[in-house]
This record gives sequence, C-alpha cells and structure tokens, in this order.
Amino acid sequence: MELEGARSACSAPIDGPTQALSVWYTRVMRRSEIDTAINRASRYFSDTYFFLPPFAYWTMPQWKKNRELADEIIKVKLGWDATDFGSGDFKNMGRTMFTLRNGLARSNEYTKPYSQKVMYIMEGQRSPIHYHKNKMEDIVNHFGGNIIIKLWQKTPANKLSQSKVTYSIDGIRNITKAGEQIMLQPGQSICVIPGTYHQFWAEIGYGPVVSIEISSVNDDLTDNFWLENTQRFSTIEEDKPCRHLLCNEYELIVP
Ligand SMILES: [Fe+2]
Repeated sequence: MELEGARSACSAPIDGPTQALSVWYTRVMRRSEIDTAINRASRYFSDTYFFLPPFAYWTMPQWKKNRELADEIIKVKLGWDATDFGSGDFKNMGRTMFTLRNGLARSNEYTKPYSQKVMYIMEGQRSPIHYHKNKMEDIVNHFGGNIIIKLWQKTPANKLSQSKVTYSIDGIRNITKAGEQIMLQPGQSICVIPGTYHQFWAEIGYGPVVSIEISSVNDDLTDNFWLENTQRFSTIEEDKPCRHLLCNEYELIVP
C-alpha cells in the first residue's frame, strides 16, 4: 500500500511536566523502521495466538472504501501505533501497540468507558516515565518473558517522590520503595492508578513480551504527563512507501 500524499504525521505537542528541551525532540523515526516494527509485532501476535481484527491489515483502498463506516475506529484512534517517543532510539525506548477498543474522551459520541491495547515489547525496550491524570490501567503480562515495572508517587511539583508506593498485583496489595523493580511473569497484572509515575519494559534475557493494557478511556492527546521531554507520536521520515497507517494518521485517508 502506498499512501497518497504521505507526509510526516506528527503534529502532537510536547506535553507533561517538564518543559526543558532535549535533543530528543529533533529526532525522527523512519517509515521503514515503523513498518518493520509492525510486521514483527504482527507476526509475534499471530504466532502466540493473539489475533487482530481485519482492519489491522487493511490496504489504503480498503481504508478509503470503509472510511465512513470506520468513523469510530478513526475518531477513538483504534489501530497501530509504533513510536520511539522522540528518542531516536526505538530499540531501547519505544513501543509497538494496537488499540483494540476505546472511547472518546469528553464526548457523547463514542461513550465506551474502557480501552484495550495489545503491545509487543522487545527486551529492554522501555516506556518513558509518565503518569496519567485520568486513566487507570491494568498492565497484563499476557505471554513471553517478564515485565519489569517501576512505580513512583509524584511530588506536588510533578517530580518523582521518594515515598513508598502501594500497588496491587492481581488483587493482592503490596508496598514498594520508590522506583524499585517489580516483576510481572506471564499471567500476572498490575494496576496503575492515576497520578502514579510508571515505566516498564521486557526483562533482558527472557525474550519479548506480549502485554495487554486494560484501562479506562485512553486519551493520548491530553492524558500523558512525562517526567522528561517526550513526544508521544514520532516525527516520521518517509524513506519508503507506508504499509501500515498509524492510529494518528487517519487524516491521510483521502476520499
Ligand atoms: Fe501509562
């Protein structure tokens, strides 16, 4: 599939508590890197019997044909999401995800109050440290290696607190020191409550992880608050024709 008039898709502003600029902001992800990441994740999902809905594989003619019927997909941003969060280092700071269901925040149009994503996490591939004001999320280790997650409370100035954090793994309450590594083996899940800084990755040496995120409505435009300067959607260098539309690129579907 070639996207007609394909262009750099990112116009999302930097958000979060830290406004200091870093070199990250100028870095880009190549389209070929994104397509490779999605192909890799897609294959792994299938190999582990996690099957995606048909629109995961739509070509541009199918997107054009179904554009009006797919209004919900487009507006609540279901579908593919591959990002390096502006790091320029996708292998160590990035995610490949597919949003399966979601609602539309602050709207009466699509009122589903929950969201579900599936993620393919490479060994050592971190998310940036972040919190959500509104979203409560369960991070589930569905298949593969181990997830390592760190939790912190936040200070009134939105920095990392050194206070202990109370958390729950599969309904069992526990307490951790700030930023201590917590392991989730396949089958385990942790609940991250709003206002808790968190960062997680697949433990090195144990293989990639298929992780499911079950949460309240996911609003990537206004509900991610980063500890450091971070860009939610990558700036893309179009070094090859695009195969997979990302969930923030549906404006590229021209009728
Ligand atoms: Fe999160």
